[in-house]
Amino acid sequence: MIVVTGATGQLGRLVIAALLKTVPAGQVVAAVRSPEKAGDLAALGVQVRRADYTDAASLDAAFQGAEKVLLISSNEIGQRLPQHRAVIDAAKRADVKLLAYTSVLRADTSTLGLAAEHEQTEQAIKASGLPATILRNGWYTENYTAGVPNAVAQGAIYGSAGDGRIASAARSDYADAAATVLTGSGHAGKVYELAGDSAYTLTELAAEAARQSGKAVIYRNVPEADYKAALIGFGLPETIAALLSDSDTAASQGALFDDGRQLSSLIGHPTTSLAASVAAVLGKH
Ligand SMILES: NC(=O)c1ccc[n+]([C@@H]2O[C@H](COP(=O)([O-])OP(=O)(O)OC[C@H]3O[C@@H](n4cnc5c(N)ncnc54)[C@H](OP(=O)(O)O)[C@@H]3O)[C@@H](O)[C@H]2O)c1
Repeated sequence: MIVVTGATGQLGRLVIAALLKTVPAGQVVAAVRSPEKAGDLAALGVQVRRADYTDAASLDAAFQGAEKVLLISSNEIGQRLPQHRAVIDAAKRADVKLLAYTSVLRADTSTLGLAAEHEQTEQAIKASGLPATILRNGWYTENYTAGVPNAVAQGAIYGSAGDGRIASAARSDYADAAATVLTGSGHAGKVYELAGDSAYTLTELAAEAARQSGKAVIYRNVPEADYKAALIGFGLPETIAALLSDSDTAASQGALFDDGRQLSSLIGHPTTSLAASVAAVLGKH
């Protein structure tokens, strides 16, 4: 039995889809905070079980019979360490044969503000003694391409990443990596630094958006505080705006760059190109 937590999230749904390419649905558990949001997953034939990171009893019930568990990191910034600890403790009680965790690129040395909770979670997994695989996911290309339609309308992409090169990959690439680890062997004890095959600057992202849309789109680099204020102006919650603007500043210093190509090597195919990701949001695929 393979259990995926956070299965109603964007990455979680893609991991379930990737697993179902090779695993019978009856051996897959979608562990979710809100089962009422998982009707489409139940329709695929997977077992839907309630698993709230803040409710240890729900985690024990969800992990019954689990051989492998994928802990998809919580999106509740600031609450993640206790939530993840609860999942690790439940996985330990369930005596799972593999715990995989979605961390962040170079969690132990990263300058990203959001890396601290990931690094602490990795330490907690190590201390648990469970056989584990750490999937240190780089940036999702969607973090940037989600804003492209708006940028095309406005003629500009805003950010604080300067000339920093970003080796992002699509969520589906990271989902394939998780499915590969959950269905294969020999991954226990491994730490994978996962990122896209090629990297781009936000100026290059703007150029790609211009090329595909036929409209003028430029990149405007702004100070981190101005970028954060702009994101709040676009309706993002303060915590997310702070996280994204901090990450952009770190990106300007190389925090989102990597050229190890461990992701494509793990999944056995090239990562999704920037052009394809831009085309996906501009309806050109
Ligand atoms: N690498 C990157 O660029 C990047 C970017 C953003 C986030 N991330 C990290 O990667 C994770 C997955 O990304 P995503 O795009 O799938 O994010 P997402 O769509 O926001 O999904 C997050 C999932 O966490 C679940 N969750 C939150 N609190 C929970 C709790 N108390 N108990 C059980 N489940 C809980 C959510 O449940 P509900 O469905 O019920 O809300 C959701 O399914 C994020 O949570 C975040 O840690 C990485």
